[in-house]
Amino acid sequence: MAALEEIGEILQETFRWLHRHPELSYEEVETTKRLRQVLQAHDVAILDSGLPTGLVAEVGTDGPVIALRADIDALPVTEETGLPYASEIPGHMHACGHDFHTSALLGAALLLKRKEHELQGRVKLVFQPAEEAPGGAKKVLETGLLQDVCAIFGMHVSPRLPVGTLGLRAGAVTASVDRFQITFRGQGTHAAHPDAGIDPIPAAAAFIQAAQTIVSRNLNPFAAGLVSITHVEGGNTWNVIPSTVLVEGTTRSLGKEERQLIRENLCRLAERIAEGHGAQAEIDWYEGPPATDNAPEWIEVARQAAKEQSLEVVEAPASLAGEDFAYYQEQLPGAFVLVGTGHSFSNHHPKFQLDPAALQPAAAFLARLAEEALRRKS
Ligand code: NI
Repeated sequence: MAALEEIGEILQETFRWLHRHPELSYEEVETTKRLRQVLQAHDVAILDSGLPTGLVAEVGTDGPVIALRADIDALPVTEETGLPYASEIPGHMHACGHDFHTSALLGAALLLKRKEHELQGRVKLVFQPAEEAPGGAKKVLETGLLQDVCAIFGMHVSPRLPVGTLGLRAGAVTASVDRFQITFRGQGTHAAHPDAGIDPIPAAAAFIQAAQTIVSRNLNPFAAGLVSITHVEGGNTWNVIPSTVLVEGTTRSLGKEERQLIRENLCRLAERIAEGHGAQAEIDWYEGPPATDNAPEWIEVARQAAKEQSLEVVEAPASLAGEDFAYYQEQLPGAFVLVGTGHSFSNHHPKFQLDPAALQPAAAFLARLAEEALRRKS
């Protein structure tokens, strides 16, 4: 069993090691190996999940089961922080703080192991692969290991909150994420003979303009949603009218109805604008995770646990970023919380940084939250 001071050291050491060795989604082999070593060295049981990367461990005694989840993957970003423990893998970086989540959960596992016999049930510790893919959460759900779980909790670092704070919000704290690709198909021709073809460029341009009216004219002004067109491609020279234009982007929202409304309106505009130009719109829609959905009663438990750990609770800043933790919340109640890690460049930026001083309080908070959740369920 690890002494308290030892856990602090393991936390910091693991965090720096993970930061130096970032691995992309579904490639988290060394990360998984490292986690396995530390957990086994402290007699924490690792369940048979069949996951090629990532793992599920367990601490506790008979009784209700709750889960704590951390994501373990990094991003294809080249680090520019200049930190002494900066990434040693060119083009890979823990630019979203998943190294923090992983170390904090490991710390919580060791803290819970110290009081295993006092726990009023079991805690499953989910080290999830491929949050950024996204969809690692679905792989974990498919293992069936969460079938006996009655509540699940996860955290994300926030560069918008100072160290020592915890951001909580009932309902959605991250958005639903959809991706669309629309091909405007006309008929290519000589630039000097537009009458001999169907130019898809004016159709795509009209659609791009009109798409921005969905949020301003169709969505309830008190609701949150967005349409971002991020990729346009058509033609490859100056004197040929191309036959197609690709328009790609993403839509976000905090509610199911808004998600549906944005999708329907976007598809209708694309199809009818194309038709109006004598062209066609072929739409490919890719549904990402829904919005997170924090249960008010579990937010209250988190608030209590935070106070006991002397963390200041603030209202979590809402964001239209996505988070695949939401897949768990489609099936299980629970809460996704934000941990203040000090102001910095935003997540996914090459200069993103977090303050490791926030690690120990985060680990202690997770352990306390798990303990309290089990008490409420037994
Ligand atoms: Ni993230």
